[in-house]
Amino acid sequence: MSKPFRTLDDAEVSGKRVLLRVDLNVPTENGKVTDKTRIERVASTITEISDKGGKVILLAHFGRPKGQRTEADSLKPVAAAVSDVIKRPVGFADDCIGEVAAAAIGKMKDGDILLLENTRFYKGEEKNDPAIVEGLAKLGDIYVNDAFSAAHRAHASTEGVAHKLPAYAGRAMQAELEALTLALGAPKRPVAAIVGGAKVSTKLELLGNLINKVDYLIIGGGMANTFLFAQGRHVGNSLCEKDMADTAKTILANADKAKCRIVLPVDAVVAKELKANVPAYVVDVGHVAEDAMILDIGPKSVVMIEEIIGQIKTLVWNGPFGAFETPPFEAATFAIAKTVGFLTRDGKLKAVAGGGDTVAALNAAGVAGQFTYVSAAGGAFLEWMEGKALPGVEALRAK
Ligand code: 3PG
Ligand code: MG
Repeated sequence: MSKPFRTLDDAEVSGKRVLLRVDLNVPTENGKVTDKTRIERVASTITEISDKGGKVILLAHFGRPKGQRTEADSLKPVAAAVSDVIKRPVGFADDCIGEVAAAAIGKMKDGDILLLENTRFYKGEEKNDPAIVEGLAKLGDIYVNDAFSAAHRAHASTEGVAHKLPAYAGRAMQAELEALTLALGAPKRPVAAIVGGAKVSTKLELLGNLINKVDYLIIGGGMANTFLFAQGRHVGNSLCEKDMADTAKTILANADKAKCRIVLPVDAVVAKELKANVPAYVVDVGHVAEDAMILDIGPKSVVMIEEIIGQIKTLVWNGPFGAFETPPFEAATFAIAKTVGFLTRDGKLKAVAGGGDTVAALNAAGVAGQFTYVSAAGGAFLEWMEGKALPGVEALRAK
């Protein structure tokens, strides 16, 4: 099978100035990086290029400074965190284009690593302005994109430059694309998707795309309440988008036509309020009291979903089943996550998960490492689940 993307295997990096786009949009507190996952993901690409004698010039955005230079959005402290992870020196230049950047790059020896300041300090970055694209392209001989999580943005550093220089997917980008192809591109069937989260309204396109791709669409979280309500069930005080009931009915009807089985909870854990360790009890759906709210799916639903998961070959997961950050409403999410973890580790299932909340839930359940792949992308993962082409990915396709 021909490779749809050029990867580092196809690149000659020795002695070259390699512009490596990474996603270093990591969480920080008082200037310290609190979660290094995104850095760890790109570490092997950085060291591989360096070991092969390329000059590694890291391009990244940080926060949303909208063209303003702000100290809070400087990437300088992140350079130290990258150095910590890869255990090699990482230089820093105060600007991502122009003389300052060019001078710093001019001093690099083969194998050196340099991080350039936040690309979003220029307004033209987000506008994919040709002048910024040109300014960036001048600094490198080749371009490698390892930032899947920023690939839904058609920005100068994620898309524009890819058209100006020979462009390749880095190892993290490659792994992400391979995992996503495995999950929805050409999955082993039966395939199921778990979609949770608060609102149907934010995931309409995603649900619409998935019903044409998966055999089972398992719905959890607040959005399940909207579906239950649409089916005429009382949801009491639960989070529910009542004005989306007709939309939910259309989704159910379309799923039927597409022979996709939509799986909704049959019971629920309810309480009077969302607070840690409040008195909570289990009811069948349809028996939610007026003053109660659904905060997790119930044990019968867990069994039903685990039965389905035992029969499928591929699972893609975005969104938790309940309010997993508040005990005891993590129970269903954790139980199902553990089952998926076992089956995946046993080679019975390929499981790919993504989205900030989902990753946090899988980490809390201690099973993220057992999944086939856990994406560190938020918006990009969602857009991919919606079936959209990601500009940063498209620009890497071998011409
Ligand atoms: C992210 O944090 O999801 C990516 O780095 C993209 O950032 P953005 O949403 O500010 O474009
Ligand atoms: Mg963000």
